[in-house]
Amino acid sequence: MAKSAPFVWLDGKLVPWEQATMHVATECVLRGENVFEGERAYWSDTEQELFLFRHAEHIARLRQGAKIMRMTIPYSDAQIEEACIALIRACEYRGGVHFRPVAYFAEGELTDYKPEEIRTGMFILAFSRPTTKSVHEGVTSCVSTWRRNSDLASPSRIKAGSNYHNSRLAYIDARLSGFQIPILLNAAGKVAEGPGACFMMVRNGTVITPPVTADILESITRETLIELIRAELGVEVIERDIDRTELYICDEAFFCGSGHEVTPINSVDRYDVGEGKPGPLTRRIQKLYFDVVSGAQPKYRHWLTPVYGTATRASAAE
Ligand SMILES: Cc1ncc(COP(=O)(O)O)c(C=O)c1O
Repeated sequence: MAKSAPFVWLDGKLVPWEQATMHVATECVLRGENVFEGERAYWSDTEQELFLFRHAEHIARLRQGAKIMRMTIPYSDAQIEEACIALIRACEYRGGVHFRPVAYFAEGELTDYKPEEIRTGMFILAFSRPTTKSVHEGVTSCVSTWRRNSDLASPSRIKAGSNYHNSRLAYIDARLSGFQIPILLNAAGKVAEGPGACFMMVRNGTVITPPVTADILESITRETLIELIRAELGVEVIERDIDRTELYICDEAFFCGSGHEVTPINSVDRYDVGEGKPGPLTRRIQKLYFDVVSGAQPKYRHWLTPVYGTATRASAAE
């Protein structure tokens, strides 16, 4: 059954789920022409508050993607934040939330109209989404037979709806072969990322992740973890190309992303990763991440935006 929510924010208004419709002739529907974000909000039992995680960074990335697409988003950052908060409040969520602000091209003809001749709109979807079983148990992975979108063709750096045709091909192919989440190599044959998350592995106590030039999305979780692992765990993190065969001999590996959070990888192409179960450093990284996103680490409060107003917003200086 399709997931649903009580409300959707569509072009400036909160509308009931059933009324959030769009014409079939829009570029968004016809060609997947949109730029979007996937964000999470985390519930704190202690504070009885819901916190958006690194919302400002997500909106900055939305604007970067829109810039490359020559798309003008018709709302300010403050209006977008207000809209996200209004939607989540209207849905009365008091638990984990996954939400997606989407800027879309509407009526027009993308192939020959100038961007300013096509109406640009925005909608936001918000769903209740607790942490999945995969985060606790880990997943099986494989090297996809599909390559990640190239920066020279359909840049992975833009979080555009149409890029997810590539993700879907990889996902479905992996699922049909009995794996849970694939790893895509880029055109150069180096590890890029998962269909909806970045990739990190551990070798000899060092965390290694592909660079932002490896045809990956410039992930906010990846950036967050690089900072946290170095500062809080004192573990070295290296950004460098990763060969396919390194996947088979690494000690630990995991996907990271707003949606997938920190999802351990237990095997790749039926080679066990380490002991074939979530590794000890991965577990420490998970704990740190969940402490930070739920507000339990005061040092990182500036990454959190309260939804209901019971907690006060921290300034970047705190
Ligand atoms: C293709 C892809 N890579 C990486 C990520 C991780 O990005 P972030 O950490 O900003 O959610 C996502 C998730 O949204 C994604 O879809």
